Amino acid sequence: MSDLLLLGIETTCDETAAAVVRRRGDGTGTILSNVVHSQTQDHAEYGGVVPEIAARAHVEILDHVIERALRAAGLGLPELSGIAASAGPGLIGGVIVGLTTAKALALAAHKPLVAVNHLEAHALTARLTDKVPFPFLLLLVSGGHTQLVAVTGVGEYTKLGGTIDDAIGEAFDKTAKMLGLPYPGGPAVERAALKGDASRFALPRPLHGKPVPDFSLSGLKTAVRLEALKIAPLGEEDVNDLCASFQAAVVDILADRVRCALRVMRERGLKPHALVLAGGVGANQAVRRVLHKVAADGGTRLAVPPPELCTDNGAMIAWAGAERMARGLVDGLDVSPRARWPLGEIESAERGATERGATGPGVTGPAD
Ligand code: KG4
Ligand code: ZN
Repeated sequence: MSDLLLLGIETTCDETAAAVVRRRGDGTGTILSNVVHSQTQDHAEYGGVVPEIAARAHVEILDHVIERALRAAGLGLPELSGIAASAGPGLIGGVIVGLTTAKALALAAHKPLVAVNHLEAHALTARLTDKVPFPFLLLLVSGGHTQLVAVTGVGEYTKLGGTIDDAIGEAFDKTAKMLGLPYPGGPAVERAALKGDASRFALPRPLHGKPVPDFSLSGLKTAVRLEALKIAPLGEEDVNDLCASFQAAVVDILADRVRCALRVMRERGLKPHALVLAGGVGANQAVRRVLHKVAADGGTRLAVPPPELCTDNGAMIAWAGAERMARGLVDGLDVSPRARWPLGEIESAERGATERGATGPGVTGPAD
């Protein structure tokens, strides 16, 4: 199969991003450009992402970000094989901006469109960076998602467990806000935790030892608040110790739940080639450290993209677009943006691409 050159557009949250990725016929890939414009400053004073502000900021900057990505890759639209964009899940205003822009470019340049699921893009990034074969266990931990997923192919995702309340990134963000740390909370909590004493506060590890790899974070968050109230007003050392204790609890929870998921996968007859860590929380060094050990103990290895590819970016969308296009999975211009789009509802090569008659140029059968 010939090389595929994909432009990828990401606008589901507060990053306006575009990138160009090459996927070779042998299934390996290279990032040719990766431009991320973070809106963090626009939302900082509100302590979280404001959907309306995000959507407007995407409209203002997206064309410019795409132009920069193409220029950095040394390519023009005519040289591309296809245009990929996040079609959800995410903040719907932003998703509409990115997907509509991709549709306009696809129409104008006569290129196929690939509507990418943002979660699938996080899931497949490790195949670009670490050449991970199927099957693998995915731990997706971001601001909006906390899931353990058995990945057996492009579009083939079986959710093993998820959170019954808050996402882990959300718990980091809320803890940071509660303790007066800046937004986004994850990196701020991690920095404070480095200086703190993790043994000072005894915090709960909800669902520890339970046989289904689900998560629950709200009890932990409440426990941090109660401890903070007990010792208020908080000094810098108190904040550092609370962050260290909170992060230690998160690390324990992740280790236990991932061990459980590895067990469940084996019971289902699947031997994972890797534990893949994806999503913004994957940038956390303490999380990465413990999961290295959990993976090794479980007879597999940890594959984790570099931090800039764990948080939202265009390269993951371009790569997922290329992986789908290589299997004949392209979309019509009538595809809809989706605020909600669970991994289990993604179309795979087995389920229906041929039924829809969707084929991309230069496309052969599945490569794996
Ligand atoms: O994947 P992502 O960029 O956006 C989505 O939510 O899709 O993830 C952002 C989340 C935020 O909740 C942020 O606080 C968290 O990832 N995060 C971190 C770190 N860096 C980002 N959490 C813990 N430690 C970090 N170093
Ligand atoms: Zn994300």
